[in-house]
Amino acid sequence: MIGAATLLLSFLLLTGESEASRQDALYRSQQQQSPYRRQACPDYRDYATRLHPPYSTGKYRLPFQRPVKECRLYSSPAVESLIEEMNARINDKDLARLFENCFPNTLDTTVRWHLNADKVADKQSFIVTGDINAQWLRDSTNQLAQYQLLAKDDEALRNLILGAINTQVDFVLRSPYCNAFQPPKASGLAPTSNGQDDTVHPVYDNTVVFECKYEIDSLASFLSLGNQYYNHTGDLSFVGEKWLSAVDNVMALIEEQQVPSFSNTGSVQDQVYTFQRRTSLGTETLNLGGIGNPINHNTSLVRSAFRPSDDAAIMQFFIPGNAMLAVELKRTAEILKKVKQIELANFVRKKGEEIEAGVWKHGVITHPVFGKVFAYEVDGYGSHIIMDDANLPSLLALPVLGFVDVKNQTYQNTRKMVLSREGNPYFLTGTEFKGIGGPHIGITHAWPISLLIEILTTDDDDEILALLAMVLKASPLGLVHESVNVRRVKDYTRSWFAWANSLFAQTILDLARRKPQVLFDVNGGR
Ligand SMILES: *[C@@H]1O[C@H](CO)[C@@H](O)[C@H](O)[C@H]1NC(C)=O
Ligand SMILES: *[C@@H]1O[C@H](CO)[C@@H](O)[C@H](O)[C@H]1NC(C)=O
Ligand SMILES: *[C@@H]1O[C@H](CO)[C@@H](O)[C@H](O)[C@H]1NC(C)=O
Repeated sequence: MIGAATLLLSFLLLTGESEASRQDALYRSQQQQSPYRRQACPDYRDYATRLHPPYSTGKYRLPFQRPVKECRLYSSPAVESLIEEMNARINDKDLARLFENCFPNTLDTTVRWHLNADKVADKQSFIVTGDINAQWLRDSTNQLAQYQLLAKDDEALRNLILGAINTQVDFVLRSPYCNAFQPPKASGLAPTSNGQDDTVHPVYDNTVVFECKYEIDSLASFLSLGNQYYNHTGDLSFVGEKWLSAVDNVMALIEEQQVPSFSNTGSVQDQVYTFQRRTSLGTETLNLGGIGNPINHNTSLVRSAFRPSDDAAIMQFFIPGNAMLAVELKRTAEILKKVKQIELANFVRKKGEEIEAGVWKHGVITHPVFGKVFAYEVDGYGSHIIMDDANLPSLLALPVLGFVDVKNQTYQNTRKMVLSREGNPYFLTGTEFKGIGGPHIGITHAWPISLLIEILTTDDDDEILALLAMVLKASPLGLVHESVNVRRVKDYTRSWFAWANSLFAQTILDLARRKPQVLFDVNGGR
């Protein structure tokens, strides 16, 4: 057990400086050739739906789904070495193949543009979600998370993440209320339309913004990207004037979204953000002229018009989003303290603590069966929504987000509730699959993402093995899908969904350190 952990750890500490600069040069030359290269490379949207040899030697014979070398969009020597090491060590050859396909998927297929300028402040990275040619703040932070672990010793990864932080800064400065963005102008990539008919305030430029659903976790994800990078590298070179202004923007937005529906004297308050879509789907637009259902005053919670599934919130105090925001604000305050922005640091920390207290005060209810549990959404009047959705942040993921200890009784009650058919309307079970889904795809499909979070929040080896087996069974294309039909896993959505692939890789890397015995032959030869 110790041997396995040490080996991986020693790898994580490996330096790849000269390799990194070689890779950098390679990337630049690929970029120069890109018009030719792109023409010859298959569209990954199509490539991901077909099986490519060689097949794994496990019972599922999983295909090899990485594009050929010349068609990969970004490369990191540390990522390649870790794939080799994991391939050699993971016992289950299907699991090894799924890791091999998923771990580099964001680098291979979603870095649609990277500018590696000499000055840190000028680096840029545009990371698309996969089959849609736009960048989500939430997805891109999650897509990059498994590379943060290796960034300290791999310059190519540091350049990529620093660029991603800067690109997100530009988005947050431009349109802090929006969730998904077009390629930056300098990339020369054309914007696309989301095909919807939306009326949104504040108005935005649709050559910059792909979609403008206001979701509190988008802003928390922006903070998280920098917080994770700092945590893993100790590097604060991204903290410049623009990043600080973006943090100011986030704080201003939070205060706007703490404005309740009515003032203390009962008059209706103006709301900065409104969203209406011409649609027949209730989850795609907001009630009451685009404001959403009323919320009470004096809660210290922050509204979220939409959920991380991009579905409208029923009650706008979305608890997992507030929990995530509280954690990330407190982490950002540490960075601000380090760079001597004391006043801002205190403000940000206080806001984080205030929201955290609001979650415990208003977001915890007593359930007749499960006892004290976190609600998914509340309105501050005492009404609450009991459910969980697979998308992150979720209730199931609260310890992964850093909000609560996994052993905390309130969390354990909540976990039991959201993983049961009695407690969670979106816990879906069928003959072939079971897990948490959500209204976004509907009540026939569960999301593999929820099984991965289940693994990350348990210590039970048997539970972990059963969940890994189910994820494998639901990934016949050698990639992790968005959702699968619980009665027929071959019926799935999104063959190319980079976030799910990244989360799978993060889960395997977590197991490699925390539970090596479920992956490796810990007593064996090596
Ligand atoms: C990174 O996070 C860990 C765990 O939360 C913490 O103990 C550590 O102090 C952090 N490191 C930095 C540089 O912030
Ligand atoms: C709500 O907060 C206001 C100050 O913002 C205070 O005057 C009022 O008493 C509070 N109401 C309750 C019920 O706590
Ligand atoms: C759960 O965590 C909260 C917040 O830290 C704490 O107040 C509470 O006592 C904890 N509950 C248990 C049972 O440990």
